[in-house]
Amino acid sequence: MYRIVKKRNLNPSVTLMSVKAPLVAAKAQPGQFIILRADETGERIPLTIADYDCGSGTVTIIFQIVGATTKLLSQKKEGDFLADFVGPLGSASHLEGLEKVAVVGGGVGCAIAYPTAKALFHKGAQVDVIVGFRSKDLIILEDEFKKASTRYFCTTDDGSNGVKGFVSDVLKSLIEGGGKYDAVVAIGPLIMMKVVSEVTRPYQIKTVVSMNPIMIDGTGMCGGCRVTVGGETKFACVDGPEFDGHLVDFDEAMRRGKMYAEREKEKLAEMNCRLMKGAR
Ligand code: FAD
Ligand code: FES
Ligand code: MG
Repeated sequence: MYRIVKKRNLNPSVTLMSVKAPLVAAKAQPGQFIILRADETGERIPLTIADYDCGSGTVTIIFQIVGATTKLLSQKKEGDFLADFVGPLGSASHLEGLEKVAVVGGGVGCAIAYPTAKALFHKGAQVDVIVGFRSKDLIILEDEFKKASTRYFCTTDDGSNGVKGFVSDVLKSLIEGGGKYDAVVAIGPLIMMKVVSEVTRPYQIKTVVSMNPIMIDGTGMCGGCRVTVGGETKFACVDGPEFDGHLVDFDEAMRRGKMYAEREKEKLAEMNCRLMKGAR
């Protein structure tokens, strides 16, 4: 059992949790993830390691409530326990030799982008962080990103904070203005990563994206997380989750991501019912 030592709501639908998991904290690296079960009958869900502290033996996760399991997880309190917390899984980010990088995050993807920005910045790289949210109320990790970047740009779709528009617009104008990057790291919705990859393609800037297909075992055995990269089948849980954005088949990934939408809706309705009965 894994104790929740800290819980903080970052916005109405995004929660940060630190979990006591010393063995995971001791081995964790940016880019890796864990798979947890909230309780003994729960399903397994993958979440990125947003931060870790070997001293206190804690691992931080940041998750958005999108369905039944994340809803159940969000109901847990400090001092409660999680049934399973397995990791670190996946390949770590390859950050060697990168001196000037743009880290682009969209929505809750910022939670996944943050450890990468922090690691690069602490290695002495120049890091431009470009984050995007639908509106001001949904902004997360602003102070953390400011401390882990050379320049910080925030966009909102509705213009309620920072630049009105998309992260890809800001990236494009920085590149067109002469910004030279060794790499662009883009993490967020598939459509955002696809557009960012198209922005950088004509400039041949190495572009790394983080793929989040449905995962079950997280160890390369079930095949559920397959993605097509450069015409080859890859398993995101072991070969990734980070891949070359110029080679990823995003359209296939978007189709596969929607495969269980109906069942996911039903499960969320069941969970809401269960929680309402529990509250009565
Ligand atoms: P559901 O209603 O079951 O599903 C909603 C959507 O979530 C689905 O349409 C699907 O796109 C996705 N999803 C559902 N089950 C899985 C699964 N087993 N594996 C992967 N995706 C699934 N989310 C965060 O908020 N923060 C993170 O740091 C984060 N890191 C991730 C890292 C990896 C490597 C992967 C693969 C996914 C990550 N996700 C992250 C997505 C997260 O796993 C899903 O949001 C979560 O599983 C949804 O579960 P649910 O039951 O609440 O929603
Ligand atoms: Fe099963 Fe990747 S989650 S192979
Ligand atoms: Mg689910």
